Amino acid sequence: MTVPILRSTLSRTMTRRAAIGAGLFGIVATLLACGQSSTPDGTASASADGPSRCGEHPWCDTSLSADERTELLLAALTQDEKVALMGGNNHPAAGHTGVGAGIARLDIPLIYYTDGPLGIRQGKATAMPAGIALAATWNTDAAQRYGALVGDEAKHKGNDVLFGPAADLLRVPLAGRGFEGYGEDPWLAARMAVHYIRGVQQQGVIADFKHYADYTQEGQIGVPPLTGLIGARVLVNVIVDERTQREIHLPAARAAVQEANVGTIMCSYPRINGTYACENPFLLRDVLRDDWGFRGYVLADYLAAHNAAASFQGGLDFEPWPPLAYRPFELNAVLAATPDSAATLDDHVRNMLRTWFAFGVFDRAAYMDDDTRIDKAAHADTAQAIEEQAITLLQNDGELLPLDTGRVKRIAVIGPAADVYQFGGGSSQVDPFSMVTPLQGIVARAGDGVAVVHDDGRIASRAAAIAADADVALVFVANRQIEGRDQLCMSLDCTGAQDRLIEAVATANPATAVILQTGAPVLMPWRQRVRAILEAWFPGQQGGNAIARVLFGDINPSGHLPVTFPDSADDLPTAGRADQYPADLLQNVHFREGVLFGYRWYDAKNIAPAFPFGFGLSYTTFAYSDLDVSPSGASVTVRNTGARAGAAVVQLYVGMPQPSPDIIQPPHQLKAFRRVSLAPGEAARVALPLDTSSFSYWDTASGAWAVAPGCYEIAVGASSRELPVRATLPMGGAQCD
Ligand code: BGC
Repeated sequence: MTVPILRSTLSRTMTRRAAIGAGLFGIVATLLACGQSSTPDGTASASADGPSRCGEHPWCDTSLSADERTELLLAALTQDEKVALMGGNNHPAAGHTGVGAGIARLDIPLIYYTDGPLGIRQGKATAMPAGIALAATWNTDAAQRYGALVGDEAKHKGNDVLFGPAADLLRVPLAGRGFEGYGEDPWLAARMAVHYIRGVQQQGVIADFKHYADYTQEGQIGVPPLTGLIGARVLVNVIVDERTQREIHLPAARAAVQEANVGTIMCSYPRINGTYACENPFLLRDVLRDDWGFRGYVLADYLAAHNAAASFQGGLDFEPWPPLAYRPFELNAVLAATPDSAATLDDHVRNMLRTWFAFGVFDRAAYMDDDTRIDKAAHADTAQAIEEQAITLLQNDGELLPLDTGRVKRIAVIGPAADVYQFGGGSSQVDPFSMVTPLQGIVARAGDGVAVVHDDGRIASRAAAIAADADVALVFVANRQIEGRDQLCMSLDCTGAQDRLIEAVATANPATAVILQTGAPVLMPWRQRVRAILEAWFPGQQGGNAIARVLFGDINPSGHLPVTFPDSADDLPTAGRADQYPADLLQNVHFREGVLFGYRWYDAKNIAPAFPFGFGLSYTTFAYSDLDVSPSGASVTVRNTGARAGAAVVQLYVGMPQPSPDIIQPPHQLKAFRRVSLAPGEAARVALPLDTSSFSYWDTASGAWAVAPGCYEIAVGASSRELPVRATLPMGGAQCD
């Protein structure tokens, strides 16, 4: 028999952030919407189905290449039409996030854009686990399934382009949007982004890698809507050296271009070394086009294009919304004032047209905005399966988990995050098709014979009394993250209320487990006082079921941290350095940590984190042995040494020699990983491919990648701090022991 749930006052609904989460676009769109017309030709977002919308033009010959078709169409466009294509419509129709101007005379269709990246922000959609949760799976197949799901929903809501993935690195735990990206490691972030993009683009939807580049903070303090004034994303000037860019901040974008053939890239808000990202010729021309060979188009984040001439010359192809820099008036003025501007104009338009031809946009009907075509049940299952792999077990003293329903007869489910759907706010916020709270998931899973007692934890003494009466206490806590403003402290909340609740419950009942739903690292001053800690991240709409299945052992947790959880805020590389974060008085943010980013910092400085990068426990155990290494890869044996089936996340780190005394190297850096499922007692030989890039550093003197001669340490194991098997690999003729 299940004892009725004792509900306290917090309602089972979204948190208050839902009301304020529409993001910059939502706020300004509402203001601009007044008195403005619909799309340029008044059409709805998606017209009738049909085989092709290209018309009867020479460029509609599909036997020609995308380049040939582009040149034919480009030659048919007037200058005014080219200019019109470079700016979006200021009032996107029917809930889309953006729409590009079509040219009806030449049958160039309207192009529809949507946020991204954690689900579609257009009516209801499947709300996926946050990006940081996806990264915690360390599963590239999961990333591809995730991308395929959001790509499919973008399409069935009538969109051509999806604003995602977001692969901004988590530089400071306070970052308002830390939950959207893939944590602190460039290699892990790149793997997630590549597979996400492949998943999206396989659906016939163009992905948009964002944000390019160096967008790692929202800013602190201020009064809405002008939040985040100190170190504000639109005001800061990131000072960063080229090596740090190439090795840390740019690899995910590079992989998106070179490995996943991403169709579009969104330039970011900050200035970088003095020049706004959307008018930055180093980033948009030298690196993106000349070095990486990007052939898609660059579009601006919303309000990130400041100056028409600088953007036009710097490499921005399209400003979706709002039309500030790329209105016809501004662009025509630039064209009139700039010698040789016709060729540059053609380059910008060519980038867009070729992308649309390459992705088949002309050769199909407009996608219908009809979400009855979405298989919502299957998508809910996918969202849940990914979350089940994301949940990360951080502590499990005396094997409190999984809950043994033979012995546990009364469960206290406590806390402000127990009966809510927890998510991050802003432009990535998704209105879910349906949702399951942790309490609902637990009640459904516990079944007859287990009493589930709920308290919202607002009164710690009341919660403690309920916990004292139970066989086990599960405390659900969360942090709040939102676009537009960074958090003010690294605690769960800056009042300390949730920390006090945990202390009170743990005092009343030693059998206490804490379930975190956070989008970034938080401080856990109580961690020695509780027996189990589970990080569920912002878990998506099916989070309640996934959490329950892990708690009861139907799923063996296999998530691993994509970011370091420091023991103290004083340990952060930016601690006490306002010029590193949030900004100096001139709004400069110095990336002084350089390549000692994330765990590289903690390792180099010998600082013990609370939980290191890559860490995650299981209900079983794994042993590593027999490492073989060569410059093209390593192989290692992993054995499940426990009594349950489970998945190991095998991680390979490379320690590089210093090329010269003045060039520092992080002690080790992630260069390969693989998730392997193993039955009890089973062993597998796991191959971990490496190549020259695994051993390369950016040599600033020559402006190129280089491999230093010397002895490379290859270390393999279950986290950045647990690397039991190691080998040395000589390079460049070095003699190593
Ligand atoms: C965000 C982008 C988002 C855009 C449109 C901006 O505020 O930075 O990530 O795609 O709004 O909603």
